[in-house]
Amino acid sequence: MAFPEGFIYELKSRNDITEVISSYVSLKRRGRNMVGLCPFHGEKTPSFNIYTETDSFYCFGCGAAGDVITFIMKIENLDYVEAVKYLAQRAGLDMPEDSYDDSLNKLRRRVFEANREAARYFYRRLMSEEGKNALGYLRGRMLTDATIRHFGLGYAPDSWTGLCDYLKSKGFKENELVSANLAVRRHSGKGIIDRFRDRVMFPIIDLRGNVIAFGGRIMTDAKPKYLNSSDTPVFKKSENLFSLNNAKNTGSRALLLCEGYMDVISVNQAGFRNAVASLGTALTTEQAVLMKRYADEIIICYDADEAGQKATARAIPILRAAGLNIRVLTIPNGKDPDEFIRSKGADGPAAFRAIIEASGNDVDYRLQKLRSEFNLAVSDGVVDYLEAAAHLMAEIESPIERDVYVSKLSKEFGVDKNALLLQIETISKRRRRDSRRREARQLQSELSGRDDKLDKEHRSRLKSTAAEESLVVYLINNPDSLSYINSQISAEQFQNALMKRFFVYFSNRISEGLEPLNNITADFSTDEQSVLYRILHQNGSVAPTPRSLREYIEVIERESRRPSDKKSMSSEQISSYFDRIRRDKE
Ligand code: UTP
Ligand code: MN
Repeated sequence: MAFPEGFIYELKSRNDITEVISSYVSLKRRGRNMVGLCPFHGEKTPSFNIYTETDSFYCFGCGAAGDVITFIMKIENLDYVEAVKYLAQRAGLDMPEDSYDDSLNKLRRRVFEANREAARYFYRRLMSEEGKNALGYLRGRMLTDATIRHFGLGYAPDSWTGLCDYLKSKGFKENELVSANLAVRRHSGKGIIDRFRDRVMFPIIDLRGNVIAFGGRIMTDAKPKYLNSSDTPVFKKSENLFSLNNAKNTGSRALLLCEGYMDVISVNQAGFRNAVASLGTALTTEQAVLMKRYADEIIICYDADEAGQKATARAIPILRAAGLNIRVLTIPNGKDPDEFIRSKGADGPAAFRAIIEASGNDVDYRLQKLRSEFNLAVSDGVVDYLEAAAHLMAEIESPIERDVYVSKLSKEFGVDKNALLLQIETISKRRRRDSRRREARQLQSELSGRDDKLDKEHRSRLKSTAAEESLVVYLINNPDSLSYINSQISAEQFQNALMKRFFVYFSNRISEGLEPLNNITADFSTDEQSVLYRILHQNGSVAPTPRSLREYIEVIERESRRPSDKKSMSSEQISSYFDRIRRDKE
């Protein structure tokens, strides 16, 4: 085990889970527990719970669960050891002497260091004779020296091993540079070469100021225009945003979401520091949820070209699902933000502010797009348009929000507001009914054939799992019952492999006099923890009684005496089993 048990105990008692989480999530008291909006998935009604009794959290929406260490791992994107260090620092606790440093953690640290050295190297090259061209390129794109410095832009020289040689001389190993994706292995397999050559470099910096990746732009029309770090031990493209480190501190609860590096930088230089870019990928849910931590409103500033408009259409539902309000910028003449600002010269900042102020929300934007598909000069066109618009508005949950658009449309086209509302209501009723039917069908197919033998088997497995889960919960809540339980039942009688592991694990800890849940994060995966906290909390505060304990034991006993389930049957056994079922049915 990584850290001494006592150290983790101290760490957890000095970092009250409610207090730690409350700096990320606004919490309300509900009974003994706290609830709030889950920071790990987008939601509008709270399903994120903190249980003070077990010092744990559990989200009924997405299943995220764990203790205070897991929470910090997830929200700060740290590994286990880093999260422990983070909490130790927060509580002013010294780390134990020979703090363990597993190899992945060590590699991550080396990758961070290599990236930082590389960023410095690229910057120095940009400012040197070698970087004259590149600096000229950036200045040609109207970037000031202050902007170049602020974003730490650089130049990767036109050399096969410039960076590799430099970093090797600083003590970095080949495998570390390959892991950082700063170098790639030669085809021959012997030695490594620089990944970025003759490109202008854009470092990507995380929220704690670490350089985690790079984008490199070629200065000609050659392809690919941008080369980006692929995923590394410290970088997952789908979970990061360029320049969020700058944008999170502006005091504004709005973010300008751009497509590219240069847009963000131009927009910054024009005085809007709350710009981020989704790194050239389609926007992901992770990125939306990340933005939600710093913003309530996203102003989409994607390119005005077709690709940008498609990306906008895809981003809207993702942002909405994360609970973000959305506005969509319309940039004139098919430009991107950078081109737009530059085209206005000294008036760039004011012109950009004007289009931000003129931007409508996502529904306005979609209605506008829709409009272009119909011929509104003829009545049929208007009817079709309003029909399509009703479909769009049926997706809006808030009745107030709906009403605003309905009023606008009814005024504009001189149609009865109630007729529109009725239409929308019919559509959403149909949708609700369809989704209920889908659910019902699914449930039915899950339960179908309940009466045949196979499913009796299946049902009994459910029953034994339920009993095993309850027994594990009982044991955690009543450590004193260990000797009684052990006298009645053994781990071998468990059918569910994970419950068996939990049972053995908690039995051992209790018999060693350890607090059962103290070290969960070190000993179980996040998925396993999620199961554990689900079973611990699914029944709310209804704690099993000693009498129900007897029942669990009986069920486990009885189920363990049944013939082994079909998973562990040989193929002959399985076919004879099916033969038997078939005969029984006839
Ligand atoms: P764009 O092609 O719109 O480039 O790609 P841009 O941002 O306007 O760049 P400039 O102004 O020509 O320098 C938008 C973003 O998509 C990603 C980059 O993040 C880029 O900023 N991209 C684009 C790539 O990752 N690779 C590419 O080859 C092209
Ligand atoms: Mn551009």
